Amino acid sequence: MKKKILIMGIETSCDETAVSIIQDNGKKPPKILANVISSQEEVHKKYGGVVPELAARNHLEKIDTVTKKALKKSKVNLWDLDAISATAGPGLIVCLSVGFNFAKALAIGLNKPLIAVNHLEGHALSPMFENELDYPYLLLLISGGHTQFLIVNDLDNYKRIGTTIDDALGEAFDKTAKLLGFGFPGGPKIEEFSRKGNPKRFILPKPIINKGGCNLSFAGLKTAVLRSKNLIKTFKDKCDLAASFQETVLEIIYKKTKLAMKEFRQNTKGKTFVVAGGVAANMEIRKIIKKLCEEENFKLYFPKTELCGDNAAMIAITGLKKFKKKKFNKLDFSVNPRWALDEKAIFLKGSGVKL
Ligand code: KG4
Ligand code: ZN
Repeated sequence: MKKKILIMGIETSCDETAVSIIQDNGKKPPKILANVISSQEEVHKKYGGVVPELAARNHLEKIDTVTKKALKKSKVNLWDLDAISATAGPGLIVCLSVGFNFAKALAIGLNKPLIAVNHLEGHALSPMFENELDYPYLLLLISGGHTQFLIVNDLDNYKRIGTTIDDALGEAFDKTAKLLGFGFPGGPKIEEFSRKGNPKRFILPKPIINKGGCNLSFAGLKTAVLRSKNLIKTFKDKCDLAASFQETVLEIIYKKTKLAMKEFRQNTKGKTFVVAGGVAANMEIRKIIKKLCEEENFKLYFPKTELCGDNAAMIAITGLKKFKKKKFNKLDFSVNPRWALDEKAIFLKGSGVKL
């Protein structure tokens, strides 16, 4: 029997050291044999955000043991791997370098192909562990560093139709949670405390809701939370503000996604919508998008909740797809902390942006 393709994925772009081994499964989705994640949450907690130098040092300390664990769990012999794939961007340069150089060393030592993976492409393909998706599809990518609407035409072929002009959605969740004293990372905490709050209590702004096409903005929302802070006296008040923040986010996402769907329809015949990235774990966001997809007749796919946040299985599946197309990289390939999925899209951040 022909040996099935085995791919290792390595992810160190931010604060998770992760290694996964997956096996091709023909026409069916690939199998995850191991998906080991070592989170640095404890390291960065007291700073309220990720400290790049500490993160890089932690990756260096953990990468060997995480890789050994993945090999042991998958029962795969290192020499049986067909390729080594690793995140080469976007992310923190000092962190990317740890994982990508480790991947280079393995590729040289094993004499196997090296595959550079875009972290965002990993998120984009993450639902394909359950269903193979037909291109093109519309993607809402919502993570700690990125918030974008993209038309996914094919592997490595993306058209950005909307982006945040300031904070990413996950960043807005994290900053709001920090202001409310909920700790880090804030997204899951806001979701949890919102359940106890009144979402209609505070009226918060919805920046650029009626202009800027599918582009989004969240910085004003966070500032409004800061201003409302003096009204917060009790725990219930905090929960009300968290719930009002989340409710406002839902309204923004609903309106902008509807616009993105319209634009997608004008450009393609696709009917598939994918939501991926850490924030896609939020149940309220899932609910509102499900409702919208029913109204607009889109077929909706999410990654499994455990594959929403950063992981190496999503890097390995992208590696596998690239392997099948022989998209290998030379050993002098460098990490790129600003590697965009749509390199033609214009930079839309900061003051003076015209919408
Ligand atoms: O994709 P991810 O793990 O890392 C990046 O590539 O950025 O996303 C992390 C982000 C964080 O901002 C975190 O607060 C947010 O995802 N997040 C959530 C939830 N779970 C994670 N935001 C809202 N609700 C959640 N349940
Ligand atoms: Zn991510």
